[in-house]
Amino acid sequence: MRIGVLTGGGDCPGLNAVIRAVVRKGTKVYGNEFVGFRDGWRGPLESATMPLGVDQVRGILPRGGTILGSSRTNPYAADDGTRRIRANLESLGVDALIAIGGEDTLGAAAKLHDEGVPVIGVPKTIDNDLGATDYTFGFDTAVNIATEAIDRLHTTAESHHRTVVVEVMGRHAGWIALHSGLAGGANVILTPERKFDLDQVCGYIEERFRSQYSPIVVVAEGAVPVAAEEVTQTDQLDSFGHVRLGGIGQWLADQIEHRTGKEARAVVLGHIQRGGTPTAYDRVLATRFGLHAIDATHEKDWGKMVALRGTDIVRVPLAEATKEIKTVPPERYAEAEVFFG
Ligand code: F6P
Repeated sequence: MRIGVLTGGGDCPGLNAVIRAVVRKGTKVYGNEFVGFRDGWRGPLESATMPLGVDQVRGILPRGGTILGSSRTNPYAADDGTRRIRANLESLGVDALIAIGGEDTLGAAAKLHDEGVPVIGVPKTIDNDLGATDYTFGFDTAVNIATEAIDRLHTTAESHHRTVVVEVMGRHAGWIALHSGLAGGANVILTPERKFDLDQVCGYIEERFRSQYSPIVVVAEGAVPVAAEEVTQTDQLDSFGHVRLGGIGQWLADQIEHRTGKEARAVVLGHIQRGGTPTAYDRVLATRFGLHAIDATHEKDWGKMVALRGTDIVRVPLAEATKEIKTVPPERYAEAEVFFG
């Protein structure tokens, strides 16, 4: 079988580990050949390819990013997207696709599957917001990077008796904020799932100062104050209709400084959370996903996504996995609230 592989959406540590596992097992166990598609769905849409074999995947296990490149190209933004993809797969002699991506890339994969394109999905995102899987690879790395930053920010905040607001990624899910905030001992964690009350946040901050410690506030980029809109960087939408979030950290630091009369600083971790080498956990998860994805391809189990359930890798329908995003449940947030203030 000749298999096309693509990585779409925001990059994430562990993508190369999936590609390596797919190619190594596919070549050695099943005798497959591979075509690397460049930059997500742009690859099959424009027939943009690169060689992909054991030689190309040597040494990439610990490398961040993706050797295939990525983009937020939506094949359904063009009317004839499906026709072009089919025609290109046929002319390249590609029998099946392995799409590694988040809700957008895999949402497109689910639609293509409905239209008869043989596709298997692998879930990736630092946001951990994909349904049907307990965790996505990339999340653990992002949480570790954010936690290390919070550890560092505690000491400088203490020295200057300041509040430090740390803005983390996650789009409309608060997983990175919740986990890094818990691991880093934040005094307030704000997630998109629950609108926050500024008076209450400032109350926690005053309480923290009274105990002679400096407060660290972890805020998810998609967190929203009561009676206000989410803070975005531009009005422009990407091809999947998403706004670019960001800016809530600075807004919050300004409000806190104004209301408490004590200095506050904002730190935006941004793409640092997505870059660089994956943690061992993410390498193992990504590798296992890759191994199971090539098995599913060999078995022609089209329209499925590999997923983590407990410690097992299972297969779930792509349609189920992309139905809705997985957000932080109230009871998980309540666990963290015990430490606020
Ligand atoms: O989905 C991953 C993610 O990093 C989000 O957390 C963030 O909102 C978005 O991508 C940023 O996208 P871009 O890299 O296109 O700015």
